[in-house]
Amino acid sequence: MNNKEKPIGFFDSGVGGISVLKESLRVLPNEDFVYFGDSLNAPYGTKDVNEVKKLTFNAVDFLLDKGAKVVVIACNTATSAAIDALREKYTDIPIIGIEPALKPAVEISRGKSIIIMATPMTLAEKKFSNLMDQYNKDVNIISLPCAGLVELIENGIIEGDQIQRYLKDKLKEFMQIDVASIVLGCTHYPFIKNELIKIVGEKTIIIDGSIGTVNELKRRLTRNNLLNEKKTKGIVTIHSSSINNSTIDLSYKLLKL
Ligand code: DGL
Repeated sequence: MNNKEKPIGFFDSGVGGISVLKESLRVLPNEDFVYFGDSLNAPYGTKDVNEVKKLTFNAVDFLLDKGAKVVVIACNTATSAAIDALREKYTDIPIIGIEPALKPAVEISRGKSIIIMATPMTLAEKKFSNLMDQYNKDVNIISLPCAGLVELIENGIIEGDQIQRYLKDKLKEFMQIDVASIVLGCTHYPFIKNELIKIVGEKTIIIDGSIGTVNELKRRLTRNNLLNEKKTKGIVTIHSSSINNSTIDLSYKLLKL
């Protein structure tokens, strides 16, 4: 098999990276994809950073064993913990990481506030403080760590009372301020976007990092001459570390939403 025909590897702590995979299928319909969700070990966002690093290296090794020509770390938490170390180790394949989409949020939010929802680890890591230093001069950026939300989504709870209660409680202190946009800095959160809109209204723009990440993926494939030239639709294979079969079913369900 030549390198162009190999699949694109995708990784997340669980089912969240499916939100990025979905965007990739739209932009790169002729590529094959192999996805690994580490649902057995999710959530990552409240773990120790070295543990997340170790789990991420294992996941990348798994994807390389499956023949991945490039790896997308479709997890903000794993990206903030491990991307530099990954790029140091795996020098011969492109590794793309997702990060909170602060740049587009700042561009549309002049003078108003931005809320960034992410895991506690993403918001605590150096990578995020660097990003903040770059953008918080022009706008008020509010960091909102959302421990516990990934667990609900991993259990397939993406709508209804429980999600409403969680979000209302998190957002209650910001309901009086002028929030122009909310950045979803965790790849699980796009699946609860509709519930979020019910609380903050249609006027608040909700942004996630998937478009930027997929554009970067396409650029890297092009630059490295790795685009699949086949004309037929690509194949998606999903793997999970979960012992529970319903996780794979949930992954395919979320992919079709
Ligand atoms: N989808 C992961 C992210 O983007 C969730 C991390 C977790 O498992 O806590 O940050």
